[in-house]
Amino acid sequence: MSGAPASGARDNDRVMDHAKSAPRDTSALPAGHPLVTGRTTDAPLIQALRARQTATRPVWFMRQAGRSLPEYRRARGTIPMLDACLNPELAAELTLQPVRRHHTDAAILFSDIMVPIALAGVGVTIEAGIGPVVDSPVRTAHDVVRLPHLDPEALAPVVAAVRLAVRELGSTPLIGFAGAPYTLASYLVEGGPSRDQLRTRAMMHADPAAWHALAAWTAAVSAAFLRAQILAGASAVQLFDSWVGGLSRADYRRFVQEHSAAVFGGVADLGVPRVHFGLGTAELLVDMAEAGADAMGVDHRLGLDEANERLCGRYPLQGNIDPALLFAGERALAAHAREVMAAGAQAPAHVVNLGHGVPPDTDPGVLTWLVDLVHAEPPAGG
Ligand code: CP3
Repeated sequence: MSGAPASGARDNDRVMDHAKSAPRDTSALPAGHPLVTGRTTDAPLIQALRARQTATRPVWFMRQAGRSLPEYRRARGTIPMLDACLNPELAAELTLQPVRRHHTDAAILFSDIMVPIALAGVGVTIEAGIGPVVDSPVRTAHDVVRLPHLDPEALAPVVAAVRLAVRELGSTPLIGFAGAPYTLASYLVEGGPSRDQLRTRAMMHADPAAWHALAAWTAAVSAAFLRAQILAGASAVQLFDSWVGGLSRADYRRFVQEHSAAVFGGVADLGVPRVHFGLGTAELLVDMAEAGADAMGVDHRLGLDEANERLCGRYPLQGNIDPALLFAGERALAAHAREVMAAGAQAPAHVVNLGHGVPPDTDPGVLTWLVDLVHAEPPAGG
């Protein structure tokens, strides 16, 4: 990671400029949207993402739907992951399960960052215990040119799943999401999960034109995916740049930032709150914020008080309970969660979450207990 301090005067100005211009106008949303009818407008999650303090802290968990829940394992059975995502009734049911069980303050659509890529026609599967595996990796300018166009009509199963879930959720907001250009491109280039993304980072420098074309393609796909979810009823969205923490600031700014900005820009007119999250992004936080987001997700490696300082106190923060603490016993978890909430109280608002996804072998009872603990905690400054 490059070593420039993240709190210099130039960063300061950039962060402030962006935060001031964050859009709030939801008049472009369809008439029945929960932020238009008002059903989710006052939900703690939406209020916090709009930088307002709430009586109780909103809490949800990345990967809250999934293998930690016995009802998930029963409903999924042996249905392949992508087939489950494209079955609207099943995807809606899996979306609702964690809200019913844990009383989280939000649902997140049961889907995957690779879904719109698969719907564009790229051969991809999601293997249990591995992650996305791409049939033919995309490594040359020629491969990039041959990537198919995503027909927005192909997103119909996602739209149907969102509608079904939103109908059941009442005043609980649904979070839509997408993969950010760097993370998606890394799966396409590497052909599957990769620790260092060496091929992806080599491609940026070896053939910048091919890289930018690939990143622009993934940005268009993700923007279409987010837009479809918002128009169908999602009240907030999160852009996952899970693997971006492997980049230097210089490479992020040169090769990635404009493409993530294009995704946020592609839904800016709709006025729903947008969260930006990646792992190991302490040194990239300001540059990621500048790509455009209304709130920043932070993993467990950086204290929320420090994150808030780097962002000049301008962004609501989401995070960042260490998932390891879910296995450390109630006393240690309670102490850690309270530390996270105290650090988060420095920010304009705080959405409690883990620093990354729920591990599959988590005892779901611990998550329910944690939600209750967060809700019982006195409000920040109160
Ligand atoms: O509850 C939720 O958070 C919503 C659902 C969700 C899934 N994937 C379902 C899923 C979300 C938001 C994602 C995003 C996603 N997918 C990311 C970004 C978030 C992150 O973890 O950083 C990434 C990198 C992927 C790609 C991917 N898909 C991975 C790395 C894996 C894990 C492979 C494994 O089995 O460990 C998947 C599969 C996946 N996505 C599962 C679920 C519930 C497990 C599939 C199963 O149950 O067989």
